[in-house]
Amino acid sequence: MIRNDIKQMAVYHVPDANGMIKLDAMENPYPLPDTLRDEWANQIRSLNINRYPDADMNELRQSIADRDGLQADQVLLGNGSDEIIQMALIAADQGACAIPQPTFVMYETVSRWLRRPVAGVPLEKDFSLNADAFMRVCAREKAGIAFLACPNNPTGNLWSRSAIQKIATNFRGLLIIDEAYHPFADDTYTDFIAPNVIVLRTYSKLGLAGLRLGYALGHPSTISELNKVRLPYNINSLAQTSARFFLNHFQVFEEQARKICQERSRLTAILDSITHVEVYPSQANFILLRVADANAAFEALQQKGVLVKNLHAAGGLLENCLRVTIGLPEENDQFVKSLGSVREIMGETNH
Ligand SMILES: Cc1ncc(COP(=O)(O)O)c(C=O)c1O
Repeated sequence: MIRNDIKQMAVYHVPDANGMIKLDAMENPYPLPDTLRDEWANQIRSLNINRYPDADMNELRQSIADRDGLQADQVLLGNGSDEIIQMALIAADQGACAIPQPTFVMYETVSRWLRRPVAGVPLEKDFSLNADAFMRVCAREKAGIAFLACPNNPTGNLWSRSAIQKIATNFRGLLIIDEAYHPFADDTYTDFIAPNVIVLRTYSKLGLAGLRLGYALGHPSTISELNKVRLPYNINSLAQTSARFFLNHFQVFEEQARKICQERSRLTAILDSITHVEVYPSQANFILLRVADANAAFEALQQKGVLVKNLHAAGGLLENCLRVTIGLPEENDQFVKSLGSVREIMGETNH
């Protein structure tokens, strides 16, 4: 009844964060200002929820395109960028899905759902990307599609423009440059958009994680092909109306992103000063750190009411790594305080 390989898979686990300081999921910690909340509610109130949503979403796509000097036919919308990852993996030519390792897990997960082989290319020890090695693996594994998260999750770094350029100009399959963390990064690679290169973005990290809205920017011909594997009405009426409203107040979210970047600098400097904690530079809204015993540190932090992401089980370059999302200043202080009192980061476990 159900495929054996599906039976072997684990369900995507989301830990219960009730009552915790939630620093595990790259959300924007700032709530929507009350003034916007009321106006937003008024927009929602006037919706005709008995009708299907606007199927083509031309207006919404145009507003998104305007921010990057593009046209509406260069924008594809997804129920989160996760959905566009799935569309790309459905539509791309046969052949492996090439990804750096470690990177965002959904590229591999969705490939497995679709029985597409995955070709992982290990990052260097400093998490940089060797473009020549990546291209060699793409050729050897006859990759039909490749994903490059710029900045990368969970390492937080932004691969060099020259490395991305080399891959963008030489790869013959469909290349997805995933800029989920673009609001917090110094550079963007939209200038590499080509018939086989698309850029993926999302509003999830900017303050609208609950909206589930992601988008791809690309050539009109590529976008129209990918659009064929989009489920009808994938963006519901509430999300469409809300997105149009929020795009008119975009500066609120940009200002919050600026504050998050300032907090990232502050938190990086504090963590850097803690002995036995190795901190990696980040261009995203989270920081990767390495401690002596990540499992024990994770548990101890959890007991103190702070939820971060424990990456230790992934092994390899992520051994003893934790990923902490930038929270509100007081949440970050609480995290630092809790971490400082965790004996496990020093390798002094209780047993
Ligand atoms: C690199 C990267 N791409 C895409 C996503 C998915 O984002 P969305 O909420 O738009 O589905 C994430 C979420 O963590 C991510 O880290």
